[in-house]
Amino acid sequence: MSPASPIVVLDSGLGGLTVVRELRNSLPHEDILYFGDTARLPYGSKTALTVGGFVKQIINYLLPFDPKHVVIACNTATALALPQVRSAFPGLSISGVVEPGAKAAIVAAGAKQVPTIGIIATEATVKSKAYERAIHRRRNHARIVLRPTPLLVPMIEEGRHPGDPLVRLAIEQYLKSMLQHGIDVLVLGCTHYPVFKDVIQKMVGGSVVVIDSARQCADDIAARLKGANLLRSAESAPGDARDVINQGTLRCFVTDDPDRFQRLAPRFVGVEIAPPTWVSPDELYGPTRGGDGWRLNVPA
Ligand code: DGL
Repeated sequence: MSPASPIVVLDSGLGGLTVVRELRNSLPHEDILYFGDTARLPYGSKTALTVGGFVKQIINYLLPFDPKHVVIACNTATALALPQVRSAFPGLSISGVVEPGAKAAIVAAGAKQVPTIGIIATEATVKSKAYERAIHRRRNHARIVLRPTPLLVPMIEEGRHPGDPLVRLAIEQYLKSMLQHGIDVLVLGCTHYPVFKDVIQKMVGGSVVVIDSARQCADDIAARLKGANLLRSAESAPGDARDVINQGTLRCFVTDDPDRFQRLAPRFVGVEIAPPTWVSPDELYGPTRGGDGWRLNVPA
């Protein structure tokens, strides 16, 4: 792999595009391959075994593109499966979104002795206790209030807007009990939720800092690539290539309904996207060719 290799970003659906948006802002020269596993969404109600299997299949599918880094831009998959995915691909640099989110929450909590940090996430992320571990490792005394919010991902994937009465009702109900705890910080522990950030911020009030991990996650990836001398910049390109790498490319793959994905993607990534490539889930299963027992597939 080289600085010209792409960064892979994956999620169960559209949510990971919020990470792509930040990546494109901070690392504009990078080529990005995005995989949205729309046929098998949501991940948030599934087990570690299932979600870990899905993620390994997706990475295997994209391995022939020789990625220099893989971002699991899904809190659920990070919380349930990051260690098992890393050990399935020992030579590959892989990161998730939970650690950057926890780090951002601690920074936002400031100097307060015992801050109260609220976290909304999928059921699987809440059950995994990944956020508690990541926060308590940094700040022993933080009080943590967790709330699963399973209706939000399907509503977002349906394309419902923040002003939609159903969306407002769901968020209100979910946040009601949390607000009684007097939280200082609220972590959006799912990469889908930033599209509702404004309405959530309004409901919790200006004194609560609302965190989405996308920004922190992009900074984390930039630091990793810099440390490995793998950043792609116009200056680092040889000769004529300098003119053509001003803006990195974004290519998307989905396992279901590419048209809908293309229609909704601008709300997440901030720009129109090219038609995504459809990958049948059947293509991800099948006889294995990879050394670790996972299938190595060669995309067109
Ligand atoms: N964006 C995923 C996350 O961050 C959504 C999970 C799901 O598919 O339920 O958790």
